[in-house]
Amino acid sequence: MGRFIIACGIDVILTHHPIADAANSGGVPLKSYLDLYDISVMELHEAFHGLHPGLSWLHGHKAFRVEIAYGGIPGNILYVGKALPEVKTLGDMLARLENLMCLEVEKQLLELECKLRGNIEIYETCLATRPEILAGAPENPVGTVAHIFPHTGFTAPHLVQVKKEHPEIDTLLATISRVHRGSDLLKQAEEMGLNFVVGNCHAVEIFENGLPLARAIQLSLPEVEVLMLRERVTATALADFGNEGIRKYADDIARTFLLPNKEKIK
Ligand SMILES: [Fe+2]
Ligand SMILES: [Fe+2]
Repeated sequence: MGRFIIACGIDVILTHHPIADAANSGGVPLKSYLDLYDISVMELHEAFHGLHPGLSWLHGHKAFRVEIAYGGIPGNILYVGKALPEVKTLGDMLARLENLMCLEVEKQLLELECKLRGNIEIYETCLATRPEILAGAPENPVGTVAHIFPHTGFTAPHLVQVKKEHPEIDTLLATISRVHRGSDLLKQAEEMGLNFVVGNCHAVEIFENGLPLARAIQLSLPEVEVLMLRERVTATALADFGNEGIRKYADDIARTFLLPNKEKIK
């Protein structure tokens, strides 16, 4: 990464997610790379969250209530919001997210990549986790949204409670993280006749928070060239990864050096 940063002419990195030293750089303390390449690093996470209503807007609602410790659990964030006039149905909400997260380009890019690599199957983060409806139909109207982040501790009893507080809620929206299909939260939402939408995943936070942050820096420092760094993560079946030569290399190394009973391996 350090060499790439230098090749791009970057001398300061500003991350949104906190940096875990050594974890980010293969066990080598980051300082060793940063000093070597004369790169400065700053992070801006907690102080940035809460500064803007962008997550609600992207998902098509305007929050009229924001809790950061719902049910007395610190960090259990809950927004309750009204759908924007242009978002009338669940389908509108999904289409808005697909558009704003540039998913059509990702889809076309992945199709090209699969073809180019020999018609193999590849999964890509943003497409594999694209927004979807877990309960309800695309034509269902959206009026009032409870917007939650399941990894922060929102549970089925919290949903019962918030519905009591705002009986007009018709849609539960989970973003950043999601719930599995058998989850109590989904069952509870279905029992209550609520729509359940899974919105953006964490991989697109570069758009949700990274881009506004970068834009603010650019507006503050117009003479600075600001570049967006983005990783694209894919998953490929082992048998399809790389090419024949590198797969043979991996097979030889594994058989010769990595397996304890190599004589038993055919
Ligand atoms: Fe994040
Ligand atoms: Fe964040």
